[in-house]
Amino acid sequence: MTGGSRLVGEVRVTGAKNSVLKLMAAALLARGTTTLTEVPDILDVEIMAELLRRLGCQVSHDKAVAQVVITVPDALEHRADYDLVRRMRASICVLGPLLARCGQVDVALPGGDNIGSRGLDMHIDGLERMGATVTNEHGYLIASAAALHGASIWLDFPSVGATETILMAAVLAKGTTVIDNVAREPEIVDICQMLTEMGARIEGIGSSTLTVTGVESLEPVTHRTVSDRIVAGTWAVAAVITGGDITVRNANPDHLRIALDKLTTAGAEVSSTDDGFRVVMRERPKAVDIVTLPYPGFPTDLQPQFIALNSISEGAALVTENLFEARFRFVQELARLGADVRTDGHHALVRGVERLSGAPVESTDIRAGAGLVLAGLVAEGVTTVYGASHIDRGYAGFVDQLVGLGATVEAQG
Ligand code: UD1
Repeated sequence: MTGGSRLVGEVRVTGAKNSVLKLMAAALLARGTTTLTEVPDILDVEIMAELLRRLGCQVSHDKAVAQVVITVPDALEHRADYDLVRRMRASICVLGPLLARCGQVDVALPGGDNIGSRGLDMHIDGLERMGATVTNEHGYLIASAAALHGASIWLDFPSVGATETILMAAVLAKGTTVIDNVAREPEIVDICQMLTEMGARIEGIGSSTLTVTGVESLEPVTHRTVSDRIVAGTWAVAAVITGGDITVRNANPDHLRIALDKLTTAGAEVSSTDDGFRVVMRERPKAVDIVTLPYPGFPTDLQPQFIALNSISEGAALVTENLFEARFRFVQELARLGADVRTDGHHALVRGVERLSGAPVESTDIRAGAGLVLAGLVAEGVTTVYGASHIDRGYAGFVDQLVGLGATVEAQG
């Protein structure tokens, strides 16, 4: 890619990766045919489809209409193999539904993004409190329960994954489960809404306490995936970093309140539109401090993009990462473009420079890759982002959309 273009135009965001994968897993909870719409055309959806097929489901993905149709049989297999789980950590989200449906589940322990240790202790603790026995053998997490029962569960930290695992187990458990200190991300609200449409009884949706009363069985539904706030936020930063003007369609600005507010502080004009928002930037951005926190705090998945933005802004900013300790690794790559960033544990001090200069860089995970592309958009000369397959995992049609907005960029290999 060659930096220097001002990005101008319109992009449309589809459903959230971090929601659709869980919605596909939630489909396992009901026999019959579930349809998901606004499904993004990304590799992780294919991996999850393959995983569901191996469990005995029929899955078709019609990319032209962004739909996935899943037909779930009466009897499911209960093993998620390492060859798939190692390619996508989110495969772990079949743990809760398979345990609830089969009383037994073997899931390979995940790999996934290269962003630091990602424990499963809260998932396991929650399932144990509901009556499951969980062991770790030969690289597999093995859980069994003759019958799951309601329980009172307190999460040490509002983990997205643990909230989903416990929720999907609780909807078919006998009795009432109260889960305290749950994650409140829009993707959690989305799965709660789908489960409710399927017949689950969930109270407190969107709050930090979910009360789930188990039901005998759930029905398949058609559900529209919530739009991807991280992709929407990435476009917002793209507008600001390039001094551009981007209208983001099918996006909910309420899901990005803090991030968009930060962009306003950086000097952007942000306004709501009929089905999204518009970001216009006319000056050099000012550096903005950020602190990542569980929703509604600033999302860790937008942290690299904001470091890229701060790297060419006026002034200095302190960025604090509270969720994934290794997420600053990409800063070494940003430094290859001339960024001035110092990290110390959870903190990064970014001093804005007048200009970045294009160079080859390596993307280590989805969001780091997005951050490097944003930096490449403003770096003088040519930037080559290696490991771009990571970016494709989170951003459907990214290169085409960038070109549509006026960037000089091409995909290779
Ligand atoms: C999800 C998102 C990811 C996002 C993150 C935080 C998906 C596929 N991924 O990841 O993009 O960055 O939420 O918004 O939806 N932890 C434990 N023990 C547990 C569970 C989590 O220690 O049992 C720790 C993890 O190591 C991590 C932190 O809690 O440091 C956050 O994890 P969690 O909120 O569960 O994120 P994920 O579901 O993995």
